[in-house]
Amino acid sequence: MTNIDDLFARWDAVDQYLEARYVPTEDVLETVLNNTEAADIRAINVAPNQGKMLMLFAQMCGAKRILEIGTLAGYSAIWMARALPQDGQIISLEYDPRHADVARKNIALAGFADKVDVRVGLAVDSLAQMVEAGEGPFDFIFIDADKPSNPQYLDYALKLSRPGTVIVADNVVRDGAVIDAHSSDPNVQGVREFNDLVAASPRLNATAIQTVGSKGYDGFALAIVLAE
Ligand code: SAH
Ligand code: DHB
Ligand code: MG
Repeated sequence: MTNIDDLFARWDAVDQYLEARYVPTEDVLETVLNNTEAADIRAINVAPNQGKMLMLFAQMCGAKRILEIGTLAGYSAIWMARALPQDGQIISLEYDPRHADVARKNIALAGFADKVDVRVGLAVDSLAQMVEAGEGPFDFIFIDADKPSNPQYLDYALKLSRPGTVIVADNVVRDGAVIDAHSSDPNVQGVREFNDLVAASPRLNATAIQTVGSKGYDGFALAIVLAE
């Protein structure tokens, strides 16, 4: 039986191997991550190969309007912005004004200040306003904020969708804790409820995938909105 530390080291080494080939280091993204660390913000951004995966998903569905719930310091937003056409836009929702400040700086550094609109506030409030103002539909939605709110984020995501909208959610496995039906962790409860709702929604066709790598053991859910 392999020791868990050895496993983590191996996943990390394999991510380095893959990233050396598929996602070669870029100065601007290094600077973005350094700025994040310098601002004392926890590095809970997606890994480089996952960021590029989001970019590819957005490209695969020809996304012009992208919604992100959970900006942190802008790392995933920058990857998704790279998928956008000239007139494309991302609205990214963030609760912590300190995170939003660093994110705006990072996004400007990457050349996407005109494409990414970081909105500060509780995401549920921003989302309610967006529904009210008729700001949908989005082509691609990335859910990656506080996990207890995931069921509400799914509700709003559907309200801001059209048939064909792609929805991706991060962190749906949480080291495997997701299988604990009796977990008292509100993050686990939120993710479990989210998985149940997505899987049972007649408006979605969806799956979920476990991932290992430099960010540990987790997973993402992937869904497409069906015709009504
Ligand atoms: N998508 C980012 C990581 C997001 S981390 C990336 O991969 O680069 C989760 C973010 O959600 C944190 O910045 C946190 O402050 C924010 N967040 C937590 N609760 C929130 C809420 N209720 N509304 C909006 N943002 C929230
Ligand atoms: C956490 C949040 C994330 O979105 C993530 O990718 C990893 C960890 C967290 O809140 O611990
Ligand atoms: Mg995440």
